[in-house]
Order: sequence, then structure tokens, then C-alpha cells
Amino acid sequence: MTGGIAAYKAIEVVRTLAYLGAEVRVIMTPSAQKFVGTQTFTAVSGNPVATEMFSGGPEVPHVELARGASLAVVAPATANTLAKLATGAADDLLTATLLMTRCPLVLAPAMHREMWEHEATAANVATLRERGAVIVGPESGPLLSGDHGAGRLVEPSELIEAALEALGRAQDLSGMRVIVTAGGTQEPIDPVRFIGNRSSGLMGFAVASAAAARGAKVTLVVGATATAPPLGIDVLEAKTAEDMLASVRQLAPDADVIVKAAAVADFRPAHPHEAKLKKASGPPELELVPTTDILEELGKAAGVRKPGSILVGFAAEIEADPKKLGELAVAKRAAKGADLVVANDVGSTDSGFEVRTNRAVIASADGVQDAGLVSKGALADALLNEVVRLLQRSQR
Ligand SMILES: Cc1cc2nc3c(=O)[nH]c(=O)nc-3n(C[C@H](O)[C@H](O)[C@H](O)COP(=O)(O)O)c2cc1C
Repeated sequence: MTGGIAAYKAIEVVRTLAYLGAEVRVIMTPSAQKFVGTQTFTAVSGNPVATEMFSGGPEVPHVELARGASLAVVAPATANTLAKLATGAADDLLTATLLMTRCPLVLAPAMHREMWEHEATAANVATLRERGAVIVGPESGPLLSGDHGAGRLVEPSELIEAALEALGRAQDLSGMRVIVTAGGTQEPIDPVRFIGNRSSGLMGFAVASAAAARGAKVTLVVGATATAPPLGIDVLEAKTAEDMLASVRQLAPDADVIVKAAAVADFRPAHPHEAKLKKASGPPELELVPTTDILEELGKAAGVRKPGSILVGFAAEIEADPKKLGELAVAKRAAKGADLVVANDVGSTDSGFEVRTNRAVIASADGVQDAGLVSKGALADALLNEVVRLLQRSQR
């Protein structure tokens, strides 16, 4: 926090981040302490507020704070601090910490309109943006001393959203090769008919986008989907279970992470007809045979995957109760030899196929995490957090 009149609004930001489960460490500049007291922020964050660069003890606060951070948010960010960050100054605990850290940086400027519009501030903001900082706001509205214009701190909710997005963009999958399968398969009956399912591909697309945003090199193996895959991601088409198996087998030896979000048919017609079946010939008899269980092959067969890679399976279940969903996820994880299994409820109108939200649990060797009813993007990030945790463990 820096010394702006909007400093009081940071209480809400700190409170919300702490509520969301973040470990929040507040750093205040000397000017910030003229506007709000440290005691409030100690109470709201649950941690002492850091103000001193020179602790007098053996610890070096700016090093400890910088190395421990996953995300830095400056709210409010004064014109002065923006200038210091742009030039690399490090003359107080806040700027020294921010020069030291490599985590994503979110800046929420707040100041008088004249200060915001000054060429110096504009140039500093442009420099910071170019270096990858996320600038949120300012908003237009009433300002100090009866003024009006651009310069108000954004609302805490908007800042939290930007902070969460920036966290998702942490490059914790940088350099990793990730395969994501998405969509449903179509098993031919004849040249025009198939056995398919209602998978839209949205969950796999969300995982692929989130992994790419976190720095991974992603290949999407895509079956039948309701919409086009996200732009900028390599795509391999695989319409049948057999095609999907072949694509995954080809890619798996180089993959650090495989996420099997596709709904692959369990059975296919044994003998697809070469010619179109005629209605006049009456209802055909279809003999079905099992397809290869791709997840199980990846989980159990030797030499298919890169050693130390992480395998994630999905289970589509008609089950809204998180406890029972958890039991199903644990059972599937054990049966298939996957590292993680996400069991999602496909029996409700707000979850599963064709909708943007999902009710899901994630099973790992450490237990079951209930993700609740969330957007598919949020579920993708929760899943990738688990993947990163397991990758870090397997690399130790
Ligand atoms: C009442 C008052 C309100 C201020 N509000 C702001 C503000 O909203 N934005 C800003 O950039 N500076 C504002 N300032 C000026 C800063 O406090 C000043 O530039 C200070 O050096 C900032 O230090 P810091 O960036 O290290 O926190 C204000 C000053 C006063 C006296």
C-alpha cells in the first residue's frame, strides 16, 4: 500500500484475499501510514504489517517477502511509487521488495486527474505495462477536493478479479508440454451415422487455455465439440476413440502432463457399414465392442508416458452429492492408475455437458478436494494448481 487517499479501500481487498485463502502480507510505505493505521491491516490479514526495510535483526524483510510471494498487488498505487517502480528505485521496503520479486504484479493507480494525465505518469505506466505489470484502473468519478475525472481506485471486486486472473497467469507451467483431450468421440455406424455423446469440449478447452496462460506448450486433441477450440493452441483432430488413442500414444512420450477431459466412447460398433444403411431395410442390429480405455492404458502400461509425468482423468457421473462424487473419483483414480481424477456431475442443468459451470471434486493421493460449483475456467485453474503441486513433488 502506498500513500493515497484511497488507502482505506485496501482493507476490503486484503479482507477478500484472506477470505479466499491467500496468505496476505501487507507492506505499507511511510506515506501510506499517514492515511491508515497498521493495526487494522494486521487484524484483517492475520499477519504483522511490514514497514521497515532495516529490521535490526538477521532477517532481510524485502528478500523474505519477495521470495515468498506468488502475487504482488499495489493498491492504491501513487504516482510517486509508479515512478519509482518504472525506474527501478528501491529506497523503501515496498519498492525494494517489488524490485526483488519475480511474481506477477498488479498495480491499481489512484491519484488526482492532473497527476494521472501527466506525461511522466503516462510514460511510467507504459513502461510498467510493457514489463508485464497488470494495470487496473483508475476509474473516472469524484476525486479529492471536489474534482472529477480519471483517478479513482477501482472497486475492490474488480481488483480482486484482476488479481486472481494474474495469479492464474503465474508461469508455473513454463516449458512444460501438456496434452489435453477435449470433446466427445463419434463411433461410426455407417458413413453418415455415429454413436456420440453430449460433450461440448468446453472443459478441455478451459484446461488448455489455462495451461497455455501459465506458460505450457499445449496440444489439444479434439473430438467432436460444440464450439471451435481456443485460438493459438496446437490442435490435432481425433473423431473416434481409436483416433484419439493413436494421437495420445504419439504425443505421450514427450508430455509432462496429460489431461484427459474428452468423453471417449466406451463401446463402438464392431462392423461399421461401408454403405449408408437404408431405412427401408429396417432397424439394423448393432454389435458393440469395447474401445481401448485410453486413461487406463496411460495409467498402467509401461513405457507409454514420460517418467514423472502427471496423468489426469475425468469422470462423468450423475451425482450431485460431493461426498459420493468424491468416492467415485477415488475409485476411478485407483482403477486407472491416474495421478488425479476430476469427477464432475453431468446430471444437473448447471453442471457437466454443454454448460459453462461445473460441480466437481478432485481426487489425488492426498485426498479429495471439493471444488464446488464453479466456472470451468476456475475448475481448470484449481486442477492445474494440483498438477503443479504434483510436478514440484515429482521433481524434488
Ligand atoms: C491528503 C493527501 C492525499 C493524497 N492522495 C494521493 C493520491 O491519491 N495519489 C497519489 O499519487 N498521491 C497522493 N498524495 C501524495 C502522496 O502521498 C505523496 O506523493 C507521497 O510521497 C507518496 O509516497 P509513497 O508513494 O511512497 O506512498 C496525497 C497527499 C495528501 C497529503
